[in-house]
Amino acid sequence: MYPRIRGSLQRDAGPRRGGITATATRSGAPTGSQLSCLGWEQEGALRCLLNNLDPEVAEDPGALVVYGGRGKAARDPAALQATVGALRRLQNHETLIVQSGRPVAVLPTHPDAPRVLISTAMIVPAWSTDENFWAYERAGLTMYGQMTAAGWFYIGTQGILGFTYETFAAIAQRHFGGRLDGRRVLTAGLGGMGGAQGRGITYNGASALIVEADERRARRRADAGWVDCLTRDYAEALRMLDQAKTPTSVALIGNIADVAPRLVTDSVHFDVATDQTAAHDLLHGYIPVGYTAADAASVTPGDQAYGKAVRQSLAAHMGALLAMRGRGTLVFEYGNNLRAQASDAGVPGALDLPGFIAAYVRPILSRGVGPYRWICLSGDPADLRRTEDAVLEVAGTPGMSRWFERARADIGAQGLPARICWLGPGERDAAGLAINDLVRRGAIGPVALGRDHMDPASVASPSRETEGMLDGSDAIADWPVLSAMLNAAQGASWVAVGNGGGVGIGRSIHSGMVVIADGSDLAERKIRRVFWTDPALGLARYADAGYPDALGEAGRLNLNLPGQPGPPGQPGQPGQPGAMP
Ligand SMILES: NC(=O)c1ccc[n+]([C@@H]2O[C@H](COP(=O)([O-])OP(=O)(O)OC[C@H]3O[C@@H](n4cnc5c(N)ncnc54)[C@H](O)[C@@H]3O)[C@@H](O)[C@H]2O)c1
Repeated sequence: MYPRIRGSLQRDAGPRRGGITATATRSGAPTGSQLSCLGWEQEGALRCLLNNLDPEVAEDPGALVVYGGRGKAARDPAALQATVGALRRLQNHETLIVQSGRPVAVLPTHPDAPRVLISTAMIVPAWSTDENFWAYERAGLTMYGQMTAAGWFYIGTQGILGFTYETFAAIAQRHFGGRLDGRRVLTAGLGGMGGAQGRGITYNGASALIVEADERRARRRADAGWVDCLTRDYAEALRMLDQAKTPTSVALIGNIADVAPRLVTDSVHFDVATDQTAAHDLLHGYIPVGYTAADAASVTPGDQAYGKAVRQSLAAHMGALLAMRGRGTLVFEYGNNLRAQASDAGVPGALDLPGFIAAYVRPILSRGVGPYRWICLSGDPADLRRTEDAVLEVAGTPGMSRWFERARADIGAQGLPARICWLGPGERDAAGLAINDLVRRGAIGPVALGRDHMDPASVASPSRETEGMLDGSDAIADWPVLSAMLNAAQGASWVAVGNGGGVGIGRSIHSGMVVIADGSDLAERKIRRVFWTDPALGLARYADAGYPDALGEAGRLNLNLPGQPGPPGQPGQPGQPGAMP
C-alpha cells in the first residue's frame, strides 16, 4: 500500500538526502527503567503527560499548547507542577482527579480502578458556546484540551500520518481509479495534524501545495522532512509543482485566504482541495489576512477588527474553494469545522461540501476499527521495533507490515518512541497482551497502550466523526460518555472525556483511555478487559445505527446486543454471552 518514497528532499533550493529527520533523541519525559512514581501506571501517566509537552512533540510547549489550535495538556504551569507532584505521590490504590487541566483531588479507590480520571472543557450544553468558553477560560475555570492533548496521549504528527494516508487512499479509490499519480492537491496548515498532509498525499502519488501562514511552523515541518520544498514565493511554488518529476510537497509561506483566490484568478488547476488550518478556533486558530501568527496567539475575544478580518478571510477562502469545486476540483472539509465557520461568515453553499469522515473514513469505523496507538515508556527505539513485530505477529496484514516498514525507514522520533495502526475488536486485546508479555519477559520496558478519541464509539461530533449517520444519531453523545464509563469500569490506567475536540466547543464530546502494560498480572487483566470491550462498544454503536458491517462483525464475535433482533447466533439472541475471549 505504501510505495517506496524517493530519497531526496528539497528545502528552499537545496536538495538533501534522507527521510523525515529524527530532530533529537532526547525527550521531555523521563526515560529508562527507573520509577520516579510509586508504580508504572502513575509513571506511565507522568511520562505521557510530559511527552505531550516535549518540544519535539508540542506545537507551543511554553504555553502548554500541544496541538489543534490551543489544545493544552495542563491549565497553567502551577497546575502542571501540581499534577506532576500528585502523580509522583499517587499510591496504587488511589485515583487522581483532573478537572480541565488542573488536579483537584486524590481519592482512595483500588488497584483495579483507573489511576487518573480526566474531564476537560465539559460545559452544560446550553452554555457550551465559544463565547462562554473563553470567558470561563479567562476566569481560570476551564481549558481547551483538543482530544489527546488533555488526554495525555498525543504522539506528534506521525500519529496522524497513517490516517491522512488512508484518507487520500480512499479518495484515490473512490474518485481517481485507485491512485493519485500525477494529481495535485491544494491545502493549508502545517501544524500538529496538518503537518502530515505532505507525506500522506505524496505517498499516494500526488503532489501538494500546502499554504502555511506561520513561517516558524513551515520551517519546523521542512526541517524535519515533512515537506519536500519550502518557499515564500507564490510563482516559485507553482514552478516547483510544475517541474516536480516525482510526487512533491511544496510548502508556501502565505495566507490561504490570499493564495486560494489568487489560484482561482490564475486558473491554476488542482484535482483535490481541502484545508487543515485550525479553523475550529476562530479566535486563535485561523489567522486572517493582514495579521500574523503572533497576533492570532495574543488576540482577545472582544477585538472587533480582528473578528471582521477573520470573517472576510473565511469568505475569501471558502469562496475560492467553491469556485474550484465549480471547475471540477474535488473539495472536502478535513475535520476543522471550516464549512460551518464559513457558512456563519455568510458564504452560501459552504455546508454543501462533504466532510472527510462521512465521505471516506466511515466504512473503516463501521467495522469497529480505529486508530490504536502505543508509546514505549523506556524511550528505547529498539522497544518500538519489538512491539511492532509483536503486533504484526498477532494482527498483521500486508498493509500494516508496509506501513511499519515505511515508518521505520522514514519517520524519525518525536518524543518517546510511538506507533499507530488500525485495529479492531479481537485485535487490540491480542496486540496488547503480546506487548505485555514482552514486558513480562524483560524483552522491553513498559508500554502505554491506547487509542485516539476519534474511534467508533468514543466520539459524537455531528460535523465530523458522526456526520450523516444512517439513523440520524449524529449529535447523540451517550456513546462517548458510555465509552468513558465502560473504560473506567474495566480499569484503564487513565480515562479522559472532553468537549470540543477538533471542531470546537459545543460541537463534539469525546473520550479516550490508556492502559499501562508493565508485564504484571494486573496489567494483563486490564488489557484483556479494556481492549475487548472498548472496540466491542464501537461495534454496538454502529450496529445500533444500522450499519450492516457492524452487525455482521458483531454476529461473528457473538456480541450480546439485546437491542438488535437477529436469528440464533446473531447479535441480540438471548443467551449469547458476548464474553471476553
Ligand atoms: N484530519 C484529521 O484527522 C484531524 C485530526 C485532528 C484535528 N484535525 C483538525 O485539523 C485542524 C488542524 O489541526 P492541527 O493540529 O494541525 O492544528 P495546529 O493549530 O497545530 O495548526 C494549524 C496551522 O494552520 C495555520 N494557519 C492558520 N490560519 C491560516 C491561514 N489563514 N493560512 C494558512 N495557514 C494558517 C497555523 O499557522 C498552524 O500552523 C484543526 O482544526 C484540528 O482540529 C484534523
